[in-house]
Order: sequence, then structure tokens, then C-alpha cells
Amino acid sequence: MKLSFRVNSKIEVLDVEPLTPLIEVLRDRLALIGAHQGCTGDNCGACTVLVNDVPVYACQVPVCQVDDAEVRTVEGLTADAERLAPLQEALAKAGATGCGFCTPGMLMIGLALRQRQPRPGPEELRELLSGNLCRCTGYEAIVQAMLEVME
Ligand code: FES
Ligand code: FES
Repeated sequence: MKLSFRVNSKIEVLDVEPLTPLIEVLRDRLALIGAHQGCTGDNCGACTVLVNDVPVYACQVPVCQVDDAEVRTVEGLTADAERLAPLQEALAKAGATGCGFCTPGMLMIGLALRQRQPRPGPEELRELLSGNLCRCTGYEAIVQAMLEVME
């Protein structure tokens, strides 16, 4: 199947098996390895990307569902690869990362919430982050760092 979609504002046209998980297309075909493949089972959120500004588990989305859509990955957080986006900077400064495996997914959740609502409260952020697991940080530092950026 030939399909086209935008990834981080760039149009991609691919010939691909329609049921291929989006995460595999991003990582293996487009070399966008920021979104991680963790459980591949709808549990961890490490693969979170935005499709038309909505966070999704990219391991659960067949690529045919993003035909004509806008996909955003952690690589698209900033136009300048040499600089960190504000959310990234905040997590780094707050020491809100451990191994970093969950971090791209967490950042996409933060971005989605920020786009949806300029000043979210801790409960809204915690609720949206509840599908993203972190084994290292205990979550509080992530929540606090993100809220500071969104104030
Ligand atoms: S890799 Fe997609 S939810 Fe875990
Ligand atoms: S920083 Fe290691 S899983 Fe979150």
C-alpha cells in the first residue's frame, strides 16, 4: 500500500504493508528512533507519539491509520537539533530522567497537554501521564518539571 503522511512537518511517501505498526515504520523505515519500542503490548507508553496532536501508542497503530495524518515524534520537538526544547530542558535541569527510556513518550504527553491547555494543573498532567511507565524517577520530578514549563 502506498501512503503519505507528514512526520514532524515533512511529507513521507511510503510503500508499506498496511498493518505494520507505526512504531516500526518510524524506527525502521524513517530512522526516527526517538520513540522507543518497549512492551509492544499497549502497556508502557515508551512508544508514544502524536497523531493529529493526540497521543497514541505507536506500537498499537497500524500505519494505514496515519494515511494523510500529521505525526509528531520527539525528534520534532525542536527545529534545531543542537538545542533542547523547553520541556526537554526542564526535565534535564530537574534531574527528571534516569535511564531515559520513557522520556520521549513522557515529552510527547507534555507537548500534547501543553497544546491542549496552556496552564494545566498537576491532576490533569498526572492523568495524561498515567499510561506512561517510568521505572527510574518516581514520576514526581517529571510532573514538577513539566508544570514549571507550562506555568
Ligand atoms: S511499546 Fe507501545 S505501549 Fe509499550
Ligand atoms: S527514566 Fe528510566 S524508565 Fe523513566
